[in-house]
Amino acid sequence: MDDEEIICPCMGTTIREIREAVKNGSDTLEAVEAATGAGTVCGACTDELAALIEKLKNE
Ligand code: FES
Repeated sequence: MDDEEIICPCMGTTIREIREAVKNGSDTLEAVEAATGAGTVCGACTDELAALIEKLKNE
């Protein structure tokens, strides 16, 4: 997984930022959205974002 990859083009949020948010206790899509802003504009990335959060939680 490339940490510099942008998961949410609307907000320019990278996988690294999502990883940090999950590490800091944001373990749901809603919490990660609130912490990073990812997923809060057009919503197109939310499925991918939810899958990524699950994957990061199990790392
Ligand atoms: S791509 Fe993430 S909100 Fe638009």
